[in-house]
Amino acid sequence: MRLVINPAERALRGVYRPPGDKSISHRAAILGGLAAGETEIHGFLDSADTRATLSAMQQLGARIDESNGIIRMQGGSLCAPSEALDLGNSGTGMRLLAGALAGHPDLIGQRVTLTGDESLSRRPMARIIEPLAHMGARITSDDGHAPLAIKPSNLSGKRHALSVASAQVKSALLLAGVFAEGDTVVLEPGVSRDHTERMLPAFGAILHDGEPGVAIRGRQELTGTRIEVPGDLSSAAFVLGAGLLVGDSEIELEGVGLNPTRSGVIDIVRAMGAGLRIDGDQTAGGEPTGRLRVDAGVLHGVDIAPDLVPLAIDEFPLIMALAAAAEGRTRIRGASELRVKESDRIAVMCRELARLGVEVEELDDGAVITGGRICAGEVDSHGDHRVAMSLAVLALVAEGPVVIDNADWIRTSYPGFVDDMRGLGAELEWK
Ligand code: S3P
Repeated sequence: MRLVINPAERALRGVYRPPGDKSISHRAAILGGLAAGETEIHGFLDSADTRATLSAMQQLGARIDESNGIIRMQGGSLCAPSEALDLGNSGTGMRLLAGALAGHPDLIGQRVTLTGDESLSRRPMARIIEPLAHMGARITSDDGHAPLAIKPSNLSGKRHALSVASAQVKSALLLAGVFAEGDTVVLEPGVSRDHTERMLPAFGAILHDGEPGVAIRGRQELTGTRIEVPGDLSSAAFVLGAGLLVGDSEIELEGVGLNPTRSGVIDIVRAMGAGLRIDGDQTAGGEPTGRLRVDAGVLHGVDIAPDLVPLAIDEFPLIMALAAAAEGRTRIRGASELRVKESDRIAVMCRELARLGVEVEELDDGAVITGGRICAGEVDSHGDHRVAMSLAVLALVAEGPVVIDNADWIRTSYPGFVDDMRGLGAELEWK
């Protein structure tokens, strides 16, 4: 489907509450299915990606009941599903589940296959297969890509030194570590999101300092619990970005997850000159949350420090869009991980921004973007939800209407995006 966005004629105003956090919802669904007894999940993200993980857990034997937006799971006893588990577009679902199932005691000697859509089948899986194999996992793939055929087997805890800072890889190994013999230790070259480490203790798991890194004790029992999912900063970031671009906007964002391993986007837009006020004094499910107030201002280009990249990894399509409308030049380096996301986000954003008249230079590990006028035109999401939403935000300050082809991929993480933007006064229409 195509989304048509008209340039904003008036300021965006209102109080906004983002949908549940995608990363945390995946983890709640997986741990809720692994843990014995009942898990109650409040604020679960209703999106295609998180639904795929939830139904995978159901196919694996978890009982799931939903009412009034609350998900209740009865887990703890798994069986091999008769069909392959389809994780759709979700790298998090596939990688974390592969780790959780590789040594699950209920599945030893059986076989579970994980599949995904075309984009997921292009994404690198060797990064989990190899370290899991080091623990004794038996996973076959199509030359390092999905489908993954897992033959759950007895695992032994190992010490892993990762070559990229990746929460998906770290989490896959920690989840495998729950069922392995002995300690599993994970060391990363940079900081990646720590939701798995925060959530596991709520299910009764014992983690400790890996001196350095994070370590989990093996052969643990998980027990069901109550999880409250905070609002997703990665979704709220689009609203925040729209508020920054459209003159005189005043938006209050409530209940936003402010985990410091995720909040790099806040540091980056502040360095670009954004006016943001943050009251972050609450927690939900062991995660810091708060309220953000966005005041439009004039953004200027910045050099983004490579150590901020993992802390804002999902926000780079948006940051590139903001840079296109900022004054001066923005330089992004050390971000080659963007090439293996739902699309090659460096190539795709450079190509689509250029179609709107933006001056961009593509680098192997980033881009240089010179801000200026944004032309009306037609662009494409390339099947990437965050590309679609980033271009939609930028379109608010274009010189005329912008049409985004294949924009319905938004459903993977944020089905309510168009309605939420309209609620704040933006003009977007499905065609
Ligand atoms: C995620 C981790 C990140 C991120 C993805 C969600 C997670 O991926 O890009 O959208 O929930 O663990 P990597 O861990 O591969 O960097």
